[in-house]
Amino acid sequence: MGIAKIAILGGGQMGAGVAQIAAGAGIDVVMIKATPGPIDKARAGIESDLARQVERGKLEQGAMDALLARLVFTDQLDAVADCDLLLESIVENLEIKRAKFAEVDRLAGPQCILASNTSTLSITAMQSATNRPKRFIGVHFFNPATVMKLVEVVPTATTSRAVTASVIGFVERLGKTPVLVKDETGFIVNRLLTPYMLDAIRCLESGLADIRGIDTAMHLGANHPMGPLSLADYIGLDVVLAMSENLYATFKHDCMEPTDLLRHLVAEGVLGRKTKLGFYDYSQRPPAPNKALQKR
Ligand SMILES: NC(=O)c1ccc[n+]([C@@H]2O[C@H](COP(=O)([O-])OP(=O)(O)OC[C@H]3O[C@@H](n4cnc5c(N)ncnc54)[C@H](O)[C@@H]3O)[C@@H](O)[C@H]2O)c1
Repeated sequence: MGIAKIAILGGGQMGAGVAQIAAGAGIDVVMIKATPGPIDKARAGIESDLARQVERGKLEQGAMDALLARLVFTDQLDAVADCDLLLESIVENLEIKRAKFAEVDRLAGPQCILASNTSTLSITAMQSATNRPKRFIGVHFFNPATVMKLVEVVPTATTSRAVTASVIGFVERLGKTPVLVKDETGFIVNRLLTPYMLDAIRCLESGLADIRGIDTAMHLGANHPMGPLSLADYIGLDVVLAMSENLYATFKHDCMEPTDLLRHLVAEGVLGRKTKLGFYDYSQRPPAPNKALQKR
């Protein structure tokens, strides 16, 4: 079951990253925008990342041109018709994802595998919006998708073995390492990481230390590549909130309950790197702790 052409639904940070690595691995990619408005943001982001790599001598201009030639951008969902796999990477909301999958299911060919890049939602709950019990699977990339090596592969109770094997082959072709996981909220990484980030936010709320102090402590004391508040900004605070709500709803562990500060920041549209303001202010170089939060 070869995967030669894929569709990515959703041109946000994750969708664009996966589109870029798949096209770089020689796969034809159609990036389908899921909301109204111009598609140019995803294209511009990919082009500027590739141009930077060319400037630094990490990528040949010819390879960049060949990669871009394999990438098509559209807002038409029926572009999925001749694809072997569709990876959904839209907003972390079960009802929105289910509605999109129901539409995609009607438009995709019978060969097409439907996959979700959800961080925490139930793959089975999305699958049940379609008529593809055997050809539905979770394929969870990490941020930034162009760099992070892990992909959690999440078959449901009905996903066929052939589909799982085919997806594992696809993930390996992208140069990633697949890990098989049961379909349970948060899979492995976010089940363990989300309570950690929430606890770091609670430490900030209670005044245990300031933003830089918390991040420096975990960076140098636990040898993590970045501290938990930087990590939350990287992931996107809206995504962290959605993950904690989903985990808390499933497991009811206190450590998974969203904090007031996290809710407050998301309600204000302070979402981390993607809005240039989160626990840090990314309009400054290097980013500085968000002054409004330092006063707490
Ligand atoms: N950010 C991460 O670290 C990370 C890592 C792995 C997986 N994910 C998952 O990937 C998915 C996308 O996350 P992201 O970080 O790229 O977010 P993002 O905010 O960068 O992108 C969200 C995408 O959803 C689309 N969208 C927003 N509202 C929509 C609606 N009502 N209907 C259809 N589409 C809509 C947007 O146009 C955009 O393309 C989520 O399921 C998230 O959980 C995120």
